[in-house]
Amino acid sequence: MIGLLFVAFLAFGAYIANENNRAEAARETQDDLKAHRGATIFVNNCRTCHGLEGKGTEEGGIAPALNRESFRIVGKTDTQYVATPDGEAATLRNFLFNTIACGRTNTAMPTWSEKHGGPLSDTQINYLVLLITEGRWDLVTEIGHEHDAALSKADLDARVVKDPSVLSVTSKNCGQFNPLSAKEFYDRTALVAKASGSAPASTAPKAGPVTGPAVQGVAVADFFQKTCATCHGNKRQGIVGPALTPQRLTNTDDFYFNTIKNGRAGTAMPAWGAAGLTDADITALVTFVKTVQP
Ligand code: HEC
Ligand code: HEC
Repeated sequence: MIGLLFVAFLAFGAYIANENNRAEAARETQDDLKAHRGATIFVNNCRTCHGLEGKGTEEGGIAPALNRESFRIVGKTDTQYVATPDGEAATLRNFLFNTIACGRTNTAMPTWSEKHGGPLSDTQINYLVLLITEGRWDLVTEIGHEHDAALSKADLDARVVKDPSVLSVTSKNCGQFNPLSAKEFYDRTALVAKASGSAPASTAPKAGPVTGPAVQGVAVADFFQKTCATCHGNKRQGIVGPALTPQRLTNTDDFYFNTIKNGRAGTAMPAWGAAGLTDADITALVTFVKTVQP
């Protein structure tokens, strides 16, 4: 009897000692379940524009990539990277939630929140935010394959929109962000290795005063990489948008100024004037793409 009690005591003691790990494991499976739900919603609603695996224009989508490292949040228990500070994580979540819930005016990004006439609940949008901030694109690939197994060849071909002119443009919304105000979220360095031994390789652009032409206080070439390259290519070779090289751009400066300022209706090219670029910014961009070799 005493022996049994002793065993029970040991087991209980062990249980308590293990409590923290168990809570941790439970939270992990919870998050896994939520990310799974997010991935299913992504497969059903977002692949058409953001690409089959969230890689956006890189895999033929008409919308930007969502698998950006800069959209990642590192949890406290991650042993590999420095945890994202709470405030920074909340700001990023808010950016993603707001963009998904509200869509983006003057672009093809629809309004998804049911509060604004879309199909998704807040809970569902939070699953998508978790998917993106945890970078669980493996789940999107897996669920995508299961989903596609049942499709015919014609349906398979129609999974990704190729012609943005068939899309309607979001005209009015509750959104607070555009590609310009979103820039701080493209610039984040999210995955900083914990300092053990080798120093993390910093990918952040070198700080220091900008000399030469600038857009929004950033050297024009850097601005282009962060903001325009998703569609026009990091070597300006063209992806969903055409190549932007001096050889190709034979029209007048005014013509390209007008394109950048007002966008092109019925295409994925946003109106950068409405997004907040000044005329001086736009002139700097026109000069850059027309005169500087990639
Ligand atoms: C009809 C096409 C379309 C669909 C479907 C779509 N999006 Fe978008 N999305 C866009 C476009 C276009 C943009 C870029 C808007 C811009 O230029 O500011 C965008 C931007 C975004 C952004 C901001 C990314 C950034 O780089 O600033 C997020 C986040 C996003 N979409 C999430 C989603 C999610 C989640 C879904 C599915 C629920 C979805 N989108 C479905 C077209 C689409
Ligand atoms: C979401 C995708 C997207 C982004 C981001 C984008 N563009 Fe475009 N851009 C396009 C598309 C698509 C076209 C072609 C429109 C058409 O078919 O007429 C285009 C056209 C252009 C053209 C006209 C090219 C020509 O040959 O007529 C210029 C110039 C241009 N973009 C500059 C920029 C600059 C500068 C930026 C960044 C501030 C930018 N674009 C960001 C999609 C994009």
